[in-house]
Amino acid sequence: MLLVTGGAGYIGTHVTRALSTSGREVVVVDDLSSGHPELLPAEVPVEVGSVLDTDFLMDVIDMYDVDAVVHLAGWKAFDESITRPSYYYRQNVHGMQSVLAAMVRLDVRRIVFSSSAAVYGTVDDGTVTEETPAIPESPYGRTKLICEWLLRDVAAAEGIDWVALRYFNVAGAGDMKLADRGVHNLIPRVFQAIDRGERPSVFGDTYDTPDGTCIRDYIHVTDLADAHATVIDAMDSAPMASVYNVGCGYGASVLDVMRAAQQASGVPFDWQIDEPRAGDPASVVADATRIRTELGWKARHDLDDIVSSAWEAWSVSRKATMTASRQGAALAVGAL
Ligand SMILES: NC(=O)c1ccc[n+]([C@@H]2O[C@H](COP(=O)([O-])OP(=O)(O)OC[C@H]3O[C@@H](n4cnc5c(N)ncnc54)[C@H](O)[C@@H]3O)[C@@H](O)[C@H]2O)c1
Repeated sequence: MLLVTGGAGYIGTHVTRALSTSGREVVVVDDLSSGHPELLPAEVPVEVGSVLDTDFLMDVIDMYDVDAVVHLAGWKAFDESITRPSYYYRQNVHGMQSVLAAMVRLDVRRIVFSSSAAVYGTVDDGTVTEETPAIPESPYGRTKLICEWLLRDVAAAEGIDWVALRYFNVAGAGDMKLADRGVHNLIPRVFQAIDRGERPSVFGDTYDTPDGTCIRDYIHVTDLADAHATVIDAMDSAPMASVYNVGCGYGASVLDVMRAAQQASGVPFDWQIDEPRAGDPASVVADATRIRTELGWKARHDLDDIVSSAWEAWSVSRKATMTASRQGAALAVGAL
């Protein structure tokens, strides 16, 4: 049985679904701080609790006979991590420590960890291989890098197979119901602004990039979910101790995303230029050669697929929220 921590989150629901569809048995652990367990396949059990609670994790591992962990639970907003560093270190680093402790005590010897492109800082031409020195620019990025170090050291001492997947900018939806409902990432922030009739913010337009705005490598969440299934399959057949970049291998600027959002939504919105944010590197694009050559995985979707699927799912989740609040209002009136 596979344990997916944070499996009720945006990426976790896609990963759980991909693993379950490929015939794996999965149990999810999630504290529901932002998760939506109702979006998981019916056959997947959900155990509600925190990864910080090692005894709870050990109970779950024991109860479901877990033999591998996909550790996604964590906090991900780099700007929030600047104002709440202790919280981020506790959730992400202590969370990782607790997961590893539970695994070691119950002899679970395989783990896939959700790392991030945020471990890289600003690099000369913006393209990063796994060998590019990791110099994170935010507390969030530092928590992910520390987790990788911790994982590497504990795995070496305890004989654990491990893979750290450095996700680039994850977006899109694999299903109408599986929208990214958080508003920390660019694409949902743009959609939220469109809904409110506001102009979405572009943080800085004087970076050293062709149009002056930040460049990122956007990866469709279903491609990312498939990468997890590929890694788990590879772990079945050989010992592993690797870091992989998981991105498309090319970048899109913030203005490219704005134009793709105009096209997908059909709304001719305007944007506004705001101050650059601290800890936001100019350009971070994956060199994804290693995962392609070693495991045969590559991204299949482009930016238009990503933004249009994200918009469709966003529209469905907005309708569901409006219906629920109308029903809530009707009930409240009925109760008067
Ligand atoms: N979204 C991205 O672009 C991106 C990029 C790089 C890395 N990541 C990493 O991927 C992982 C998943 O991100 P996401 O976008 O799905 O975020 P998300 O917030 O949608 O999902 C995180 C899930 O973890 C759960 N959770 C949080 N703290 C927990 C705890 N202490 N114990 C148990 N469950 C807990 C939440 O309830 C939620 O369901 C995170 O570790 C994040 O850092 C995300």
